[in-house]
Amino acid sequence: MRIVDLRSDTVTKPTLKMRQAMKDAEVGDDGFSDDPTTNRLETMAADCAGKEAALFVPSGTMGNLIAIMVHTKPGEGLICDRFAHINTMVAGNTAALTGTTISPLDVDESGNFDLVELESHINLDNIHFPRTSLIVLENSNNLAGGTVVTPEETSEIFRIAKKHHLRLHLDGARVFNSAIAQGVDLIELTRDCDSVMFCLSKGLASPVGSIIAGTEAFIKEARRIRKMLGGVMRQTGILAACGIISLEEMVDRLAEDHDNARYLANALEGIDGFSIKLKTVQTNIICFKFELPQLSCKEFVDNVAKKGIYLVHLFKNIGRMVTHKDLSKSDIDYALKVFKDTVSKVE
Ligand SMILES: Cc1ncc(COP(=O)(O)O)c(C=O)c1O
Repeated sequence: MRIVDLRSDTVTKPTLKMRQAMKDAEVGDDGFSDDPTTNRLETMAADCAGKEAALFVPSGTMGNLIAIMVHTKPGEGLICDRFAHINTMVAGNTAALTGTTISPLDVDESGNFDLVELESHINLDNIHFPRTSLIVLENSNNLAGGTVVTPEETSEIFRIAKKHHLRLHLDGARVFNSAIAQGVDLIELTRDCDSVMFCLSKGLASPVGSIIAGTEAFIKEARRIRKMLGGVMRQTGILAACGIISLEEMVDRLAEDHDNARYLANALEGIDGFSIKLKTVQTNIICFKFELPQLSCKEFVDNVAKKGIYLVHLFKNIGRMVTHKDLSKSDIDYALKVFKDTVSKVE
């Protein structure tokens, strides 16, 4: 059966060059900072993000967790989008492991905070509320539909954070998608952030791994917390070798995924049951509503999965599709054909 996997860009397989690089990688024990390939990746990643230092971590989830643990103390508060990954998709780790309270805020259709509301949720003095110490920004914003936060919006949030002596962390799991979609250098999106996490294992096609970057002092503490969480992985050069290829060769091609997402979104608009906010399709993610009287979103997703087209049902009538390097235009045309057939067979 022909499979078209639109569940996530995390399904991308490493390239042949990555597999070769894994075989040839020079390795050492990263627990002693002895792995030359990992050290090289960390230096490259820090340069890309315009930060003093960087650390290779097993996942984006652990990277964000470490950043929150460095920036906050238990009992403090952090502000993020209500649907931010750290609030919705981490099995509750922020609450369970950091001891912080999240103040979740609504964002607009483009994934942006209302800055007046953001500032009004900062608490420094009222003893009844957690003291706010951190703002977490997600760029691109996954559940807003892969929308991008601009350098100007980031600067505005930074201005508010600094006015109140808060830290700003960027969950940039897909920040390269955001930079490519906006035609800006990554540093434009990271400059104002005290720390940044980005994933190598999503659209950049590495099999495993993410990066956190910040000041030398931030990374020194992050290294200690990574150890505490069991995130020291020893001969990580085998994985870091792929990360180097991700940064060197896989960034510019993300534009192709964005073109495919727009192509797919435009075509979905013409299929019964789908409603898409086209203006939110800015990168490689399409959040869609699907509803027909005789077919719920979940039923539709289950139905097309049986025909080899994999999507994610998020909640209620909302689902998600993500384009990536292992999908061609022809795969997308095939998926569209299956969607049309499925909808046309509903009584
Ligand atoms: C916005 C965002 N942040 C963080 C993560 C976590 O990354 P990982 O799957 O590597 O833990 C994801 C994963 O999809 C994500 O979409």
